[in-house]
Amino acid sequence: MQNKLMEKIISLCKRRGFIYPSSEIYGGFSAIYDYGPYGTELANVIKREWWKAMVQKRQDIVGLDSSIFMNPKIWEASGHVSGFSDPLAECKNCNARLRVDHLLEDIGVMADEKMSEEEINEIFIKHKDKIKCPKCGKSDFTEAKKFNLLVKANLGNFTNDWTKDPTYLRGETCQGIYVNYKNVLDSNRVKIPFGIAQIGKAFRNEITARQFVFRTREFEQMEMQYFTHPDNEMEEYEKLRKIRWQYYLDLGIKKENLKWAKHENLVFYAKAAYDIEYKYPFGFKELEGVHARGDYDLSQHTKFSGKDLSYTNPVTNEKYMPHIIESSVGVGRTMLAVLCDAYNEEKERVVMKFSYKLAPIKLAVFPLLKNKPELVKKAKEIYENLSEKFMCEFDDNGNIGKRYRRQDEIGTPYCITVDFDSLEKNDVTVRDRDTMKQDRVDIKKLDKYFQKNLK
Ligand code: GAP
Repeated sequence: MQNKLMEKIISLCKRRGFIYPSSEIYGGFSAIYDYGPYGTELANVIKREWWKAMVQKRQDIVGLDSSIFMNPKIWEASGHVSGFSDPLAECKNCNARLRVDHLLEDIGVMADEKMSEEEINEIFIKHKDKIKCPKCGKSDFTEAKKFNLLVKANLGNFTNDWTKDPTYLRGETCQGIYVNYKNVLDSNRVKIPFGIAQIGKAFRNEITARQFVFRTREFEQMEMQYFTHPDNEMEEYEKLRKIRWQYYLDLGIKKENLKWAKHENLVFYAKAAYDIEYKYPFGFKELEGVHARGDYDLSQHTKFSGKDLSYTNPVTNEKYMPHIIESSVGVGRTMLAVLCDAYNEEKERVVMKFSYKLAPIKLAVFPLLKNKPELVKKAKEIYENLSEKFMCEFDDNGNIGKRYRRQDEIGTPYCITVDFDSLEKNDVTVRDRDTMKQDRVDIKKLDKYFQKNLK
């Protein structure tokens, strides 16, 4: 039933131009997706809203755009080269590559990410008979091996055995923030506490490609790292948790589909870690991580780079290593939550009830008939005026009923139809997506009408 829902959402995404499988004409490319016209628009709206909340409306947070490629030592300092791995096993029957922690999770056994290969295998062997391969249903697996998720590249290395000395596509965007923290401090009027926010691509060699854009190998992260005095870390952390929770409610996500999940097994340096989970069709899963990371990141980069990243309070001269709290969420994972939250099946239609803030297209303008030049001309004029302020679409294809259904499926809040009365009375029909009620509105007042109604 829930998988059916997921299938319907995936199918709508393809049919209506939100999300396509990558390289489809070549048979696809596992765990990589492309955004179509409405997906691109939706991703842009999501990023704009995040930036507005995390940078535009915050005096104490600034933005950054660091590169995808960085000095490979950064990934040694961060612990990714030695420790950023998932346990991998193969099904001996169908050769499917599987994440052992996920297989265990599916039968209610939790495997801790800090466990060694031996520890994981001990639990895996103990439960092997209960675990079935999700692809072929058999229970015959190889031993689990830890597989590093960093994606390697040969950038700047012109030898044929570059794999011995690789560069990496960044596995998370926040490392670019940590290594620029001193630059930002020295070139901007920021004082601790302050934050640096960034949106950008990250890459992970994820073992299993499951659940559409929930887990992909190329994805975009929106991360904010907040630098605090050690004594204030937990107070700032609690504030950040509240802010991030409210952010999703303000986006229009249904409260009952959100919950907090506490990490019970913290990595050694972490003070606290919670995830905001969303109720996807496949269950409550991590949408965003909110973590208190202590001084681990700046201490590691100080150690590996030899550059002192501690902070000196300009007033008291107190010197200390700042502690970091972070908020980290993927654009694709947010998009999937937004799509699932908006999906509604009614008797005669499927309608995406995006909040007005998130709707990729806000208004659609139609001439009643496409073969009446006077209607088309008037509708085009209205489209041109409104598109100065709102993301609009012009559509003269098919009958009005079909055009409404199409706009319902992409979640457009209002449709405007120009008919013969419009030529006489200078007014149009405005149809509301959710109630399907129609209103007659003076063309001169459309701008104000939507400024008010789209709030
Ligand atoms: N800097 C912390 C960090 O990267 P994470 O829990 O590994 O922490 C943070 O990732 C967020 O990034 C996740 O909550 C999720 O929204 C997104 N994310 C992580 N891996 C992803 C993947 N393979 N595909 C899509 N989104 C992903």
